[in-house]
Amino acid sequence: MRPPTRRGRLTAALSVAAALITLAGSTSAQPSVAAEAPVAAAALPYQDASLPVADRVNDLLGRMTLDDKIGQMTQADKDSIVPQSDINTYRLGSVLSGGDGTVSPNNATTWADTYDALQRQAIGTPLAIPMIYGIDAVHGANAVRGATIFPHNIGLGATRDPALVQRIGRAVAEEVSGTGVDWTFAPCLCVARNDRWGRTYESFGETPELVSSMSTIVDGFQGAGGAGSTAASVLATAKHYIGDGGTTNGTDQGNTQLTEAELRAVHLPPFKSAVDRGVGSVMLSYSSWNGVKVHGHKFLVTDLLKGELGFKGFVVSDWAAVDQLDGQTGFTADEVSKAINAGVDMVMVPYDYKKFISTLRAEVDNGHVAMSRIDDANRRILTKKFELGLFEKPLTDRAYTSTVGSAEHRTLARQAVRESQVLLKNDGGVLPLAKSAKLFVAGKSADDIGNMSGGWTMSWQGRSGAITPGTTVLGGIRAAATDSSRVTYERYGNGIDSSYTAAVAVVGETPYAEGKGDRTGAMGLDQEDLQTLAKLKASGVPVVVVLVSGRPLDIAAQLPDWKALVAAWLPGTEGGGVADVLFGDYKPTGKLPMTWMRSVSQQPINQGDGKDALFPYGHGLTYGTGTEPDPTPTPTPTPTPGAGSCTATTKVTNSWSGGYQADVTVRNTGTVALTGWAASWDLGNRTVTNVWNGTLTTSGGRATVRNTQWNGSLAAGGTVTFGYTANGSADGLTVPACSGTTGA
Ligand code: GLC
Repeated sequence: MRPPTRRGRLTAALSVAAALITLAGSTSAQPSVAAEAPVAAAALPYQDASLPVADRVNDLLGRMTLDDKIGQMTQADKDSIVPQSDINTYRLGSVLSGGDGTVSPNNATTWADTYDALQRQAIGTPLAIPMIYGIDAVHGANAVRGATIFPHNIGLGATRDPALVQRIGRAVAEEVSGTGVDWTFAPCLCVARNDRWGRTYESFGETPELVSSMSTIVDGFQGAGGAGSTAASVLATAKHYIGDGGTTNGTDQGNTQLTEAELRAVHLPPFKSAVDRGVGSVMLSYSSWNGVKVHGHKFLVTDLLKGELGFKGFVVSDWAAVDQLDGQTGFTADEVSKAINAGVDMVMVPYDYKKFISTLRAEVDNGHVAMSRIDDANRRILTKKFELGLFEKPLTDRAYTSTVGSAEHRTLARQAVRESQVLLKNDGGVLPLAKSAKLFVAGKSADDIGNMSGGWTMSWQGRSGAITPGTTVLGGIRAAATDSSRVTYERYGNGIDSSYTAAVAVVGETPYAEGKGDRTGAMGLDQEDLQTLAKLKASGVPVVVVLVSGRPLDIAAQLPDWKALVAAWLPGTEGGGVADVLFGDYKPTGKLPMTWMRSVSQQPINQGDGKDALFPYGHGLTYGTGTEPDPTPTPTPTPTPGAGSCTATTKVTNSWSGGYQADVTVRNTGTVALTGWAASWDLGNRTVTNVWNGTLTTSGGRATVRNTQWNGSLAAGGTVTFGYTANGSADGLTVPACSGTTGA
């Protein structure tokens, strides 16, 4: 439980007001205000913070009308609640600001004042149930001008530093709390498998173990003991359950075509990690699994997430995602009951909350949604509200408002920027640069906080320009230089000549979010960048490229012209961290969270799929006596035949003229656990074109698939499945030979 704060006095007054409990039994679709005279009452059990949360929930549930309960399951967009008193009238349990939600003037105090006004509406209801306010604080309190903007998740994945990421979660929680908001729709625990996806930068990486390792941010947001376990605790959201990063062709909100074994192996582990850390909410994915929308998938939501994983928080839909279930615009009674019965506890409506409330009410009245489902959803939601301490302290803790954009948080963000830089190339040790060097800086993203921050910054899609206070890469370079007058900046490279020691080109992508960032065609640099780079190349000056992008880009053709390449990802407001690496104040330690394509035709390209990447997953150079090579990657263990025994059984899951898809199940037939396995078979005239859950090598007409880093251990009698797609006929496949490794 959170320690008392200055709000205690105000809260006590509100508790007295709330103690005026009415026993209104409204029956209309629109709850009326107290139907009977309020009766004064001492604080009721649910208002007694000394009682166990479960007892408080039970007591409160017993006092709630159906309208109260349906209101708790309703989340509305702040700007759509007109009049604001509808929060009171319709007992709305939650308010959100979507990506474009804002206040005017946009600063922390205005946000806090706005939150408090909305909350007063909520606690002015007969039962005084506080609302919970959600926002996408995905890399800082990124809707608030002046907030610290941290690197997006793809950069945090490159740090390989879960402890740092937890500290970032804590800093974000403080800034978010200072604006009143109690709930962030973060972290995205998506495993991005196709870089075409417009949300690749919201992913910590392409492997489940890297993404799982960064679930420490949940403890940062909530506190290590779960929701409400520390002051300024904000509810975290594991999203988007499940398979959002695994859709075919990386299409946002598309179809994830995987077997259950593959879905479990690649996309489930991060959610298990978050659930084990007590994540308070889970947001469902718009996408489908083998053609079935996740928002209506009872097995995935209720049986797997709530049952098998034991998730005790509440499930929230995505923005108007219920509307998509029948493929038509708007939502119907069938869609509402399908989503609620699948296990959705709170619906992000977000606009027509009155229609949603009346629709769900009717679906309960006609028996399509059981009261037990309504009560379960309320129990989950109310439990988190009690744990967060919202009943005792419903209003903004203004003690945290001053942390928004604080020097301490910006220092932390700068450390994150340093650790996220991945040095991909450094010919002749051109880096680190000398601070006394005469430098020419160019590129559209050198002096642009908006480009450096990407989507979900001050607006949903983000935008180029000076959108919020911060230090650009150019600003960082000038601040670090011995004499800033020796640093010239011209966006397009005009004016460069051979007098410069080096040119630094800061290029890449302009902001985008979600499907608007899907790249279905080329994935190279834009024309402006290419023209700028051509000018720099023509000068003969060594070119250092700093790539500001939300994903790997197709740059193999240009790479020979660059002496050095640093992947900066989307660093946010603290561009000084990039300069720290360029000048060697920090030796680069970043490692690729994504395999880097040699060509866009290779997408999807991931660790272990046997494709010839430009830079492999985990690649990252540092500074040393020269350019020290990447430490030799640990080779996938070649199982020692006989050390462990296994069998491999192939099952053709799909075939078409000229190709087929197959699952291969490896079974540990020995008596001791395997620590690695390999299955190999004759290819004949076939070629394997894609592999998942395994690491492919081919030689001498045979294909060998070994375990990945995350599925090598196999208990005696256990099985694991990998899959592949191949050109050629599925007829006459030989049974793969299997060998296993045991021991360390
Ligand atoms: C968006 C996103 C989701 C976000 C929600 C609220 O469509 O899919 O990540 O949390 O809506 O903004």
